[in-house]
Amino acid sequence: MKRLHNFSAGPGALPVSVLEEAQQEMLVYGGAGASIMEISHRSPEYTAVVDSARQHLATLLGLGDEWHILFLQGGASLQFYQLALNFLPAGQTADYVNTGSWSKKAIAEARRVGNVHVAATSAEDNFSHIPPVSSWSHSSDPAYVHITSNNTIFGTQFQEDPVSSPAPLICDASSDFLSRPLDLAPYGMIYAGAQKNIGPAGVTVVLIRKSFMERIKGDLPTMLDYRVHAEKLFNTPPVFAVYMVEKVLRWVAEEGGLMGMKARNEAKADLLYGRIDQTDFYRGTAEKGSRSKMNVTFRLPSEEMEAEFISGAKTEGLLALKGHRSAGGIRASIYNACELSSVQALVDFMSDFERKNG
Ligand SMILES: Cc1ncc(COP(=O)(O)O)c(C=O)c1O
Repeated sequence: MKRLHNFSAGPGALPVSVLEEAQQEMLVYGGAGASIMEISHRSPEYTAVVDSARQHLATLLGLGDEWHILFLQGGASLQFYQLALNFLPAGQTADYVNTGSWSKKAIAEARRVGNVHVAATSAEDNFSHIPPVSSWSHSSDPAYVHITSNNTIFGTQFQEDPVSSPAPLICDASSDFLSRPLDLAPYGMIYAGAQKNIGPAGVTVVLIRKSFMERIKGDLPTMLDYRVHAEKLFNTPPVFAVYMVEKVLRWVAEEGGLMGMKARNEAKADLLYGRIDQTDFYRGTAEKGSRSKMNVTFRLPSEEMEAEFISGAKTEGLLALKGHRSAGGIRASIYNACELSSVQALVDFMSDFERKNG
């Protein structure tokens, strides 16, 4: 069976060249005499892989020595709790911007640890937009301000970095990490599960500014203490996932880095939103000023037609277009590795479907 057009929201499509390279190395990695999965995580071979992954991340994002680059486990979902455990001291409040299901989960976990203030939300509009920064109302001295840069389920995305934060900004960037350049200035920490834009499931990239890290106090459970992971390789890391991430990072660099990803992603998003906006048959669910370039969500005239659309698309080799179960409709996830030709195939299918059903 051949590879089809994959619009999966996550785990998402990976670059074919990366998969091919991994395939070639599956039995024997370099001079190791075994695969990368079968050798020590303290071996020179794995150490070189993780060093290269760190180096590529640093170069792509412009991270200097003032940043820790960690490869952790437990998904972005564990970060929701770990972040608050490390950075939300008793008696202080953390501010959260609630832009959808993942923000809500981050808020719920932080509340287990301490005080949370919701500085802004678009819940009243079913999360169809990002509340403008000028409308946020902060608590008096927040420990940090947390945002979700891209809302995977509702198809909205911050169009720019909120630079005027009153406290270090923390970003769950799981679904748009490395999809465009970033202004690092306001950020204290950025975290992202790998399985959408930068690799397979199993590793979470966590970037922490060293000066922010100094705020962590007291004795924490070892595995949940960022200081432990920053200091040394404490336990067995997700070796294969990190190895794949390193390959994807090299691919991003070869494709022109973050400016290259931005151009690539804008071309796909423009093509798809352009088709959605062409007639009234398709209706985008996110407000135009908040549209995501990663997860494009839209509706058809009826739920029956949406079901037909999804099954017809599958027959044509267009996979995973069903919207999240909590949102309904159609969702096309067009992460970094998704090719323009896949989006063109989807747009052609949309035109054909409208001709027959519109
Ligand atoms: C924005 C965002 N945050 C967090 C998560 C949860 O990530 P994980 O499954 O790695 O815990 C997801 C997963 O889809 C997501 O899209």
